[in-house]
Amino acid sequence: MKKTLLIALSLGVSMLATSSMAATIDPETDRQQFIEFFKAKNPNISPEEYINGAYVYSADKMAQWEAAEEFPPYLDAIDEGEALYNKDLAVYQKCFGSDVSKIRVKYPYFDEASKQVVTLEGAINKCRTDAGLKPYGWKKGPIAQISAYLADNARGQKIDVKIESDAALAAYNKGRDFFNKPRGQFNLSCAKCHVDNSGRNARSNTLSAALGHTTHFPVFRAKWQNLGTLHRRYEGCQKNIRAKPYKAQSETYRDLEFFQAYMSNGLEINGPGYRE
Ligand code: HEC
Repeated sequence: MKKTLLIALSLGVSMLATSSMAATIDPETDRQQFIEFFKAKNPNISPEEYINGAYVYSADKMAQWEAAEEFPPYLDAIDEGEALYNKDLAVYQKCFGSDVSKIRVKYPYFDEASKQVVTLEGAINKCRTDAGLKPYGWKKGPIAQISAYLADNARGQKIDVKIESDAALAAYNKGRDFFNKPRGQFNLSCAKCHVDNSGRNARSNTLSAALGHTTHFPVFRAKWQNLGTLHRRYEGCQKNIRAKPYKAQSETYRDLEFFQAYMSNGLEINGPGYRE
């Protein structure tokens, strides 16, 4: 990414104060403020629309994207995910039950026993290893395909992340802090790009709003030419700002996903998605 652009971004208006720096944090107030921020920034975009990422900012891009979604490049991946799932069906049914439409919406959640955030991909691999099967790699391939199959079956349901204990709140706060804290060679935070500067251009890309960031994953990116998980995307964004990425499914990224998913509560699951 060009340095000039990054400097421009880091000098950009910082309007995040109300949404991210309140002294006491109540997640629900936090979420409402987050939504209000985007409403104020772009009054003609309704919160529900942000599930389509940066495309909401341009009618042309939206039309192109809608055309791509008519016959999306992730269709094969959904089929492959289904075949993989059915191959080990008995194992998965023991972990997830028999209704594949009811799985995706449960994740991420805070597991009170292990005091950790459990993601869908984490649960898939745990299910496998508990049954003596080999775990999959975290960022692409089979795990993304199965995740796509489960997301596709859950389309239209709403993100519903719950915070019901102090430990869950602590995980949320860690994710939130990570999201807001500047880092890397250019001293940029996730919020700087995806909140303050959302809708603005970064090189040839328009920056998406963080609202709705988790609804459509896994994503088939034209740039990757295959399907990738949310944590693969997190790594990519961290590399772009020359910050050392954490590992996919590290506690840091799971907490970040927990925070981001909570911010998207009430929005529709529309994965898998297509992105440039
Ligand atoms: C220098 C600006 C910049 C920073 C900082 C940044 N990103 Fe991004 N991010 C981008 C760009 C550019 C894209 C591609 C366009 C888009 O969808 O926003 C992107 C895409 C994404 C997407 C995919 C959006 C979609 O619709 O599929 C997610 C999720 C994401 N970023 C999360 C993060 C998180 C979390 C952080 C902090 C660790 C972060 N980004 C930091 C620039 C940034």
